[in-house]
Amino acid sequence: MPDVDVGRICDIDPARVAHYQRRYPAAASSNEFEAVLADESIDGVVIATPVFTHASLVSSALRAGKHVFVEKPLAASSGEARILVQLAGEHDRVLMCGHTFLYSPPVRAIKRILEAGELGELHYISSSRVNLGPYRSDVSVVFDLGPHDFSILRYWLDSLPHNVSAMGRDVISTGVADFAFVNAIFEDGLVANMELSWLAPSKLRRTVLVGSEKMAVYEDNSPEPVRIYDSGIEYRDPETYGEYHLAYRTGDIVSPRVDTSEPIALELKDFAGAIRGEVDELPNSRIAVDVIRMVEATEASMADGGRAVPVAAHGAGLEREAWS
Ligand SMILES: NC(=O)c1ccc[n+]([C@@H]2O[C@H](COP(=O)([O-])OP(=O)(O)OC[C@H]3O[C@@H](n4cnc5c(N)ncnc54)[C@H](O)[C@@H]3O)[C@@H](O)[C@H]2O)c1
Repeated sequence: MPDVDVGRICDIDPARVAHYQRRYPAAASSNEFEAVLADESIDGVVIATPVFTHASLVSSALRAGKHVFVEKPLAASSGEARILVQLAGEHDRVLMCGHTFLYSPPVRAIKRILEAGELGELHYISSSRVNLGPYRSDVSVVFDLGPHDFSILRYWLDSLPHNVSAMGRDVISTGVADFAFVNAIFEDGLVANMELSWLAPSKLRRTVLVGSEKMAVYEDNSPEPVRIYDSGIEYRDPETYGEYHLAYRTGDIVSPRVDTSEPIALELKDFAGAIRGEVDELPNSRIAVDVIRMVEATEASMADGGRAVPVAAHGAGLEREAWS
Protein backbone atom coordinates (compact mmCIF):
# COMPACT_ATOMS: atom_id res chain seq x y z
CA MET A 1 0.00 0.00 0.00
CA PRO A 2 1.59 3.29 -1.09
CA ASP A 3 0.56 5.27 2.00
CA VAL A 4 1.49 2.66 4.61
CA ASP A 5 5.00 1.82 5.82
CA VAL A 6 5.75 -1.70 7.01
CA GLY A 7 7.75 -0.90 10.14
CA ARG A 8 8.23 -4.37 11.57
CA ILE A 9 7.79 -8.02 10.73
CA CYS A 10 7.24 -10.47 13.54
CA ASP A 11 6.86 -14.26 13.70
CA ILE A 12 7.96 -16.76 16.30
CA ASP A 13 9.35 -18.80 13.41
CA PRO A 14 12.69 -17.24 12.30
CA ALA A 15 12.39 -18.81 8.82
CA ARG A 16 9.10 -16.96 8.18
CA VAL A 17 10.66 -13.70 9.36
CA ALA A 18 13.63 -14.22 7.03
CA HIS A 19 11.28 -14.95 4.13
CA TYR A 20 9.30 -11.72 4.56
CA GLN A 21 12.36 -9.67 5.44
CA ARG A 22 13.51 -10.18 1.83
CA ARG A 23 10.32 -8.45 0.66
CA TYR A 24 10.60 -5.60 3.16
CA PRO A 25 14.34 -5.09 3.70
CA ALA A 26 13.83 -1.72 5.41
CA ALA A 27 11.53 -3.17 8.10
CA ALA A 28 12.86 -4.18 11.51
CA SER A 29 12.22 -7.79 12.45
CA SER A 30 11.79 -9.82 15.60
CA ASN A 31 10.57 -13.13 16.94
CA GLU A 32 8.82 -11.50 19.87
CA PHE A 33 5.56 -9.63 19.64
CA GLU A 34 6.57 -7.53 22.67
CA ALA A 35 9.17 -5.80 20.47
CA VAL A 36 6.38 -4.66 18.13
CA LEU A 37 4.33 -3.39 21.06
CA ALA A 38 7.28 -1.48 22.50
CA ASP A 39 7.97 0.26 19.16
CA GLU A 40 6.34 3.68 19.42
CA SER A 41 6.61 4.31 15.69
CA ILE A 42 4.03 1.55 15.02
CA ASP A 43 0.42 2.79 14.79
CA GLY A 44 -1.35 -0.41 13.88
CA VAL A 45 -0.65 -4.14 13.79
CA VAL A 46 -1.96 -6.81 11.44
CA ILE A 47 -2.27 -10.16 13.21
CA ALA A 48 -2.45 -13.31 11.07
CA THR A 49 -1.71 -16.10 13.54
CA PRO A 50 -3.65 -19.22 14.56
CA VAL A 51 -7.04 -18.46 16.13
CA PHE A 52 -6.09 -19.64 19.64
CA THR A 53 -3.45 -16.87 19.84
CA HIS A 54 -5.82 -14.06 18.81
CA ALA A 55 -7.25 -13.14 22.21
CA SER A 56 -3.91 -12.66 23.95
CA LEU A 57 -2.12 -10.98 21.00
CA VAL A 58 -5.03 -8.62 20.22
CA SER A 59 -5.62 -7.69 23.86
CA SER A 60 -1.94 -6.94 24.49
CA ALA A 61 -1.75 -4.85 21.31
CA LEU A 62 -4.83 -2.83 22.28
CA ARG A 63 -3.45 -2.27 25.79
CA ALA A 64 -0.18 -1.08 24.24
CA GLY A 65 -2.17 1.54 22.33
CA LYS A 66 -1.98 -0.08 18.88
CA HIS A 67 -4.84 -0.23 16.40
CA VAL A 68 -5.47 -3.84 15.41
CA PHE A 69 -6.47 -5.71 12.30
CA VAL A 70 -6.82 -9.41 13.09
CA GLU A 71 -7.56 -12.17 10.61
CA LYS A 72 -10.86 -13.99 10.96
CA PRO A 73 -12.19 -15.36 13.23
CA LEU A 74 -11.79 -12.58 15.79
CA ALA A 75 -11.23 -15.04 18.65
CA ALA A 76 -11.71 -18.64 19.68
CA SER A 77 -14.97 -17.95 21.54
CA SER A 78 -17.72 -15.35 21.51
CA GLY A 79 -16.79 -14.49 25.11
CA GLU A 80 -13.22 -13.61 24.12
CA ALA A 81 -14.45 -11.75 21.05
CA ARG A 82 -16.79 -9.54 23.09
CA ILE A 83 -14.05 -8.67 25.54
CA LEU A 84 -11.76 -7.62 22.68
CA VAL A 85 -14.45 -5.35 21.23
CA GLN A 86 -15.01 -3.86 24.68
CA LEU A 87 -11.24 -3.38 25.18
CA ALA A 88 -10.93 -1.58 21.84
CA GLY A 89 -13.72 0.78 22.96
CA GLU A 90 -12.06 1.43 26.34
CA HIS A 91 -8.70 2.22 24.71
CA ASP A 92 -10.31 4.12 21.81
CA ARG A 93 -8.47 1.98 19.26
CA VAL A 94 -9.63 0.58 15.93
CA LEU A 95 -10.29 -3.16 16.05
CA MET A 96 -11.07 -4.71 12.71
CA CYS A 97 -11.51 -8.39 11.91
CA GLY A 98 -10.52 -9.70 8.49
CA HIS A 99 -13.86 -10.89 7.19
CA THR A 100 -12.54 -10.44 3.67
CA PHE A 101 -15.79 -11.30 1.90
CA LEU A 102 -17.46 -8.22 3.35
CA TYR A 103 -15.16 -6.32 0.97
CA SER A 104 -15.76 -8.59 -2.01
CA PRO A 105 -17.32 -6.57 -4.89
CA PRO A 106 -19.72 -9.44 -5.88
CA VAL A 107 -20.88 -9.81 -2.24
CA ARG A 108 -21.48 -6.07 -2.11
CA ALA A 109 -23.31 -6.17 -5.46
CA ILE A 110 -25.71 -8.79 -4.05
CA LYS A 111 -26.23 -6.67 -0.94
CA ARG A 112 -27.35 -3.79 -3.21
CA ILE A 113 -29.64 -6.14 -5.17
CA LEU A 114 -31.22 -7.36 -1.92
CA GLU A 115 -31.63 -3.83 -0.59
CA ALA A 116 -33.35 -2.81 -3.84
CA GLY A 117 -35.80 -5.71 -3.30
CA GLU A 118 -35.00 -7.10 -6.75
CA LEU A 119 -35.27 -10.74 -5.67
CA GLY A 120 -38.56 -10.20 -3.81
CA GLU A 121 -39.09 -12.14 -0.60
CA LEU A 122 -36.15 -14.50 -0.03
CA HIS A 123 -37.17 -18.16 0.36
CA TYR A 124 -33.78 -19.79 0.77
CA ILE A 125 -30.04 -19.41 0.33
CA SER A 126 -27.80 -22.34 -0.44
CA SER A 127 -24.01 -22.26 -0.55
CA SER A 128 -21.14 -24.63 -1.21
CA ARG A 129 -17.66 -23.80 0.02
CA VAL A 130 -15.66 -26.94 -0.62
CA ASN A 131 -12.20 -28.00 -1.75
CA LEU A 132 -9.62 -30.73 -1.23
CA GLY A 133 -7.97 -29.17 1.85
CA PRO A 134 -6.11 -27.19 2.91
CA TYR A 135 -6.51 -28.91 6.28
CA ARG A 136 -5.95 -27.05 9.52
CA SER A 137 -5.05 -29.00 12.62
CA ASP A 138 -6.04 -26.34 15.15
CA VAL A 139 -9.72 -25.76 14.28
CA SER A 140 -12.58 -27.58 12.53
CA VAL A 141 -13.87 -26.77 9.04
CA VAL A 142 -16.72 -24.93 10.76
CA PHE A 143 -14.27 -22.51 12.42
CA ASP A 144 -12.13 -22.24 9.29
CA LEU A 145 -14.61 -21.91 6.39
CA GLY A 146 -17.85 -21.20 8.29
CA PRO A 147 -16.90 -17.57 9.12
CA HIS A 148 -16.90 -16.72 5.41
CA ASP A 149 -20.51 -17.80 4.84
CA PHE A 150 -21.68 -16.71 8.28
CA SER A 151 -20.26 -13.19 7.80
CA ILE A 152 -21.76 -12.94 4.29
CA LEU A 153 -25.20 -14.03 5.56
CA ARG A 154 -25.04 -11.68 8.53
CA TYR A 155 -24.10 -8.81 6.18
CA TRP A 156 -26.68 -9.56 3.48
CA LEU A 157 -29.60 -10.21 5.83
CA ASP A 158 -28.62 -7.84 8.62
CA SER A 159 -29.82 -10.43 11.11
CA LEU A 160 -28.78 -13.59 12.91
CA PRO A 161 -30.46 -16.95 12.44
CA HIS A 162 -32.93 -18.00 15.07
CA ASN A 163 -31.35 -21.43 15.31
CA VAL A 164 -28.79 -23.62 13.61
CA SER A 165 -28.68 -27.36 13.04
CA ALA A 166 -25.69 -29.15 11.57
CA MET A 167 -24.28 -32.55 10.82
CA GLY A 168 -20.67 -33.36 10.05
CA ARG A 169 -17.88 -35.84 10.60
CA ASP A 170 -14.20 -36.00 11.51
CA VAL A 171 -13.05 -38.69 9.09
CA ILE A 172 -9.40 -37.74 8.49
CA SER A 173 -8.32 -36.38 11.86
CA THR A 174 -10.18 -37.46 15.00
CA GLY A 175 -11.87 -34.55 16.74
CA VAL A 176 -11.45 -32.08 13.85
CA ALA A 177 -14.57 -32.00 11.65
CA ASP A 178 -13.60 -31.98 7.97
CA PHE A 179 -17.06 -31.46 6.52
CA ALA A 180 -20.34 -30.07 7.77
CA PHE A 181 -23.82 -29.47 6.41
CA VAL A 182 -25.33 -26.50 8.20
CA ASN A 183 -28.93 -25.28 8.17
CA ALA A 184 -29.63 -21.85 9.61
CA ILE A 185 -33.26 -20.86 10.14
CA PHE A 186 -34.15 -17.19 10.34
CA GLU A 187 -37.08 -15.58 12.18
CA ASP A 188 -39.11 -15.04 9.00
CA GLY A 189 -38.71 -18.66 7.88
CA LEU A 190 -35.80 -18.10 5.49
CA VAL A 191 -33.57 -21.18 5.37
CA ALA A 192 -29.84 -20.90 4.64
CA ASN A 193 -28.05 -24.13 3.85
CA MET A 194 -24.25 -24.26 3.85
CA GLU A 195 -21.99 -27.08 2.77
CA LEU A 196 -18.48 -26.66 4.21
CA SER A 197 -15.79 -29.17 3.33
CA TRP A 198 -12.06 -29.79 3.12
CA LEU A 199 -12.85 -33.19 1.65
CA ALA A 200 -14.19 -32.59 -1.85
CA PRO A 201 -12.80 -33.36 -5.32
CA SER A 202 -12.57 -29.76 -6.50
CA LYS A 203 -12.91 -26.17 -5.41
CA LEU A 204 -16.41 -24.72 -5.42
CA ARG A 205 -17.49 -21.34 -4.07
CA ARG A 206 -21.12 -20.96 -5.10
CA THR A 207 -24.14 -19.39 -3.44
CA VAL A 208 -27.70 -19.45 -4.77
CA LEU A 209 -30.36 -17.04 -3.52
CA VAL A 210 -33.96 -17.89 -4.35
CA GLY A 211 -36.55 -15.16 -4.03
CA SER A 212 -40.21 -14.75 -4.89
CA GLU A 213 -39.39 -12.47 -7.85
CA LYS A 214 -35.95 -13.51 -9.09
CA MET A 215 -33.05 -15.80 -8.28
CA ALA A 216 -29.34 -14.99 -8.07
CA VAL A 217 -26.14 -16.98 -8.26
CA TYR A 218 -22.88 -15.74 -6.78
CA GLU A 219 -19.84 -17.66 -7.90
CA ASP A 220 -16.52 -16.43 -6.61
CA ASN A 221 -13.66 -16.33 -9.14
CA SER A 222 -16.04 -16.75 -12.07
CA PRO A 223 -15.79 -14.24 -14.96
CA GLU A 224 -19.47 -13.51 -14.25
CA PRO A 225 -19.50 -13.68 -10.42
CA VAL A 226 -23.12 -12.48 -10.10
CA ARG A 227 -25.98 -13.65 -12.29
CA ILE A 228 -29.61 -12.65 -11.80
CA TYR A 229 -32.22 -15.03 -13.19
CA ASP A 230 -35.69 -13.71 -13.92
CA SER A 231 -37.03 -17.14 -13.05
CA GLY A 232 -39.82 -18.37 -10.83
CA ILE A 233 -42.97 -20.38 -10.50
CA GLU A 234 -46.35 -18.70 -10.27
CA TYR A 235 -49.61 -20.11 -9.07
CA ARG A 236 -52.53 -19.17 -11.32
CA ASP A 237 -56.20 -19.70 -10.68
CA PRO A 238 -57.35 -22.07 -13.42
CA GLU A 239 -59.86 -20.62 -15.89
CA THR A 240 -61.06 -24.04 -17.05
CA TYR A 241 -61.45 -27.29 -15.19
CA GLY A 242 -58.31 -29.41 -15.41
CA GLU A 243 -56.04 -26.47 -16.42
CA TYR A 244 -52.56 -26.66 -14.89
CA HIS A 245 -52.17 -24.31 -11.92
CA LEU A 246 -48.47 -23.57 -12.10
CA ALA A 247 -46.72 -21.36 -14.65
CA TYR A 248 -42.95 -21.52 -14.98
CA ARG A 249 -41.20 -18.26 -15.75
CA THR A 250 -37.72 -18.38 -17.28
CA GLY A 251 -36.81 -14.89 -18.42
CA ASP A 252 -33.55 -13.02 -18.92
CA ILE A 253 -30.30 -13.85 -17.16
CA VAL A 254 -28.42 -10.66 -16.34
CA SER A 255 -24.82 -10.49 -15.21
CA PRO A 256 -24.18 -7.04 -13.74
CA ARG A 257 -20.72 -5.54 -14.18
CA VAL A 258 -18.80 -5.99 -10.94
CA ASP A 259 -15.68 -4.11 -9.86
CA THR A 260 -12.58 -6.33 -9.92
CA SER A 261 -10.77 -4.76 -6.93
CA GLU A 262 -9.01 -7.15 -4.60
CA PRO A 263 -11.04 -7.49 -1.34
CA ILE A 264 -8.02 -7.70 0.95
CA ALA A 265 -6.62 -4.46 -0.51
CA LEU A 266 -9.99 -2.76 0.09
CA GLU A 267 -10.24 -3.94 3.70
CA LEU A 268 -6.69 -2.91 4.57
CA LYS A 269 -7.33 0.48 2.96
CA ASP A 270 -10.33 0.82 5.28
CA PHE A 271 -8.18 -0.18 8.26
CA ALA A 272 -5.60 2.50 7.41
CA GLY A 273 -8.44 4.99 6.79
CA ALA A 274 -10.01 4.19 10.17
CA ILE A 275 -6.67 4.75 11.94
CA ARG A 276 -6.42 8.15 10.25
CA GLY A 277 -10.01 8.94 11.23
CA GLU A 278 -11.13 9.04 7.58
CA VAL A 279 -13.49 6.06 7.83
CA ASP A 280 -16.23 6.73 10.35
CA GLU A 281 -17.43 3.41 11.57
CA LEU A 282 -16.34 -0.10 10.79
CA PRO A 283 -19.43 -2.31 10.73
CA ASN A 284 -17.52 -5.47 11.30
CA SER A 285 -16.86 -5.75 15.08
CA ARG A 286 -20.49 -6.63 15.75
CA ILE A 287 -20.51 -8.99 12.76
CA ALA A 288 -17.27 -10.61 13.95
CA VAL A 289 -18.82 -11.44 17.35
CA ASP A 290 -22.02 -12.73 15.74
CA VAL A 291 -20.02 -14.94 13.37
CA ILE A 292 -18.44 -16.72 16.36
CA ARG A 293 -21.86 -17.13 17.97
CA MET A 294 -22.96 -18.91 14.78
CA VAL A 295 -19.82 -21.08 14.81
CA GLU A 296 -20.49 -22.03 18.43
CA ALA A 297 -24.15 -22.87 17.78
CA THR A 298 -23.11 -24.97 14.76
CA GLU A 299 -20.48 -26.90 16.71
CA ALA A 300 -22.93 -27.42 19.60
CA SER A 301 -25.50 -28.84 17.16
CA MET A 302 -22.94 -31.17 15.57
CA ALA A 303 -21.91 -32.41 18.99
CA ASP A 304 -25.57 -33.13 19.77
CA GLY A 305 -26.53 -35.15 16.71
CA GLY A 306 -27.84 -32.24 14.66
CA ARG A 307 -30.27 -30.84 17.24
CA ALA A 308 -31.53 -27.31 16.48
CA VAL A 309 -29.50 -24.94 18.70
CA PRO A 310 -30.68 -21.37 19.34
CA VAL A 311 -27.95 -18.87 18.41
CA ALA A 312 -29.16 -16.64 21.27
CA ALA A 313 -27.87 -19.27 23.72
CA HIS A 314 -24.30 -18.43 22.69
CA GLY A 315 -22.36 -15.34 23.62
CA ALA A 316 -24.77 -13.71 26.07
CA GLY A 317 -23.80 -12.31 29.46
CA LEU A 318 -20.11 -13.14 29.28
CA GLU A 319 -17.72 -11.71 31.78
CA ARG A 320 -14.01 -10.96 31.57
CA GLU A 321 -11.91 -14.10 31.68
CA ALA A 322 -8.58 -14.92 33.25
CA TRP A 323 -6.43 -14.13 30.21
CA SER A 324 -7.50 -10.47 30.17
N1 LIG B 1 -9.49 -14.12 5.43
C1 LIG B 1 -9.13 -15.22 4.84
O1 LIG B 1 -9.59 -15.53 3.75
C2 LIG B 1 -8.12 -16.13 5.51
C3 LIG B 1 -7.44 -17.09 4.77
C4 LIG B 1 -6.50 -17.90 5.42
C5 LIG B 1 -6.27 -17.74 6.79
N2 LIG B 1 -6.97 -16.82 7.47
C6 LIG B 1 -6.77 -16.64 8.91
O2 LIG B 1 -5.43 -16.20 9.14
C7 LIG B 1 -4.96 -16.68 10.39
C8 LIG B 1 -3.64 -17.41 10.16
O3 LIG B 1 -3.84 -18.47 9.27
P1 LIG B 1 -2.62 -19.05 8.39
O4 LIG B 1 -3.21 -20.06 7.50
O5 LIG B 1 -1.81 -17.94 7.83
O6 LIG B 1 -1.80 -19.77 9.56
P2 LIG B 1 -0.29 -20.29 9.51
O7 LIG B 1 -0.20 -21.32 10.58
O8 LIG B 1 0.14 -20.60 8.11
O9 LIG B 1 0.57 -19.01 9.92
C9 LIG B 1 0.48 -18.49 11.22
C10 LIG B 1 1.85 -17.88 11.56
O10 LIG B 1 1.73 -17.29 12.85
C11 LIG B 1 2.97 -17.51 13.54
N3 LIG B 1 2.73 -17.35 14.97
C12 LIG B 1 2.04 -18.17 15.79
N4 LIG B 1 2.01 -17.67 17.04
C13 LIG B 1 2.67 -16.48 17.01
C14 LIG B 1 2.98 -15.48 17.98
N5 LIG B 1 2.58 -15.60 19.25
N6 LIG B 1 3.69 -14.41 17.59
C15 LIG B 1 4.11 -14.27 16.32
N7 LIG B 1 3.85 -15.19 15.36
C16 LIG B 1 3.14 -16.26 15.69
C17 LIG B 1 3.38 -18.91 13.12
O11 LIG B 1 4.75 -19.14 13.34
C18 LIG B 1 3.01 -18.88 11.62
O12 LIG B 1 4.09 -18.41 10.83
C19 LIG B 1 -6.07 -17.59 10.94
O13 LIG B 1 -6.84 -16.82 11.83
C20 LIG B 1 -6.90 -17.92 9.71
O14 LIG B 1 -8.26 -18.19 10.01
C21 LIG B 1 -7.87 -16.00 6.86
